[in-house]
Amino acid sequence: MHTAVRTLVLLSLSHLLFACSGATNVDCKQVTVPKYAAMTAWARCTNCHSSSLSGGSRAGAPSGINYDSYDAAVADADIALSQVDSGSMPPSGSPKLSAAEKDQIINWASCDTPQ
Ligand code: HEC
Repeated sequence: MHTAVRTLVLLSLSHLLFACSGATNVDCKQVTVPKYAAMTAWARCTNCHSSSLSGGSRAGAPSGINYDSYDAAVADADIALSQVDSGSMPPSGSPKLSAAEKDQIINWASCDTPQ
């Protein structure tokens, strides 16, 4: 009985930890962290999320969320991480990220967004 309660408490605690640290736990010492300028993955985003696009050419992408410059990408790095990690972005119908491109965004956003 006591063990079951303790297990439940531990389980809920680990859920809390995961909620705080994002969906993916990246060990930044173990992965390759790309620089923004070297990342090919952004090309899968900037046909909608670019500061040079407005109105209908953004295909519905929110006007404040862009990945065509380092500063803009850093500002929305966390939300890019969660969208890419969950597979919500790029949206269905758009070219998917390769596994390597997905890692680029997840590792970059998780590990201090190097320029
Ligand atoms: C075909 C156009 C298109 C492409 C390509 C695209 N997006 Fe989006 N994005 C959208 C649209 C439309 C929305 C708003 C609707 C939604 O959230 O599903 C959006 C919303 C978002 C949001 C906000 C989500 C929220 O909950 O507020 C983020 C962050 C995002 N996209 C990141 C990305 C990233 C990172 C990529 C590239 C890996 C990408 N998107 C590729 C169209 C696109």
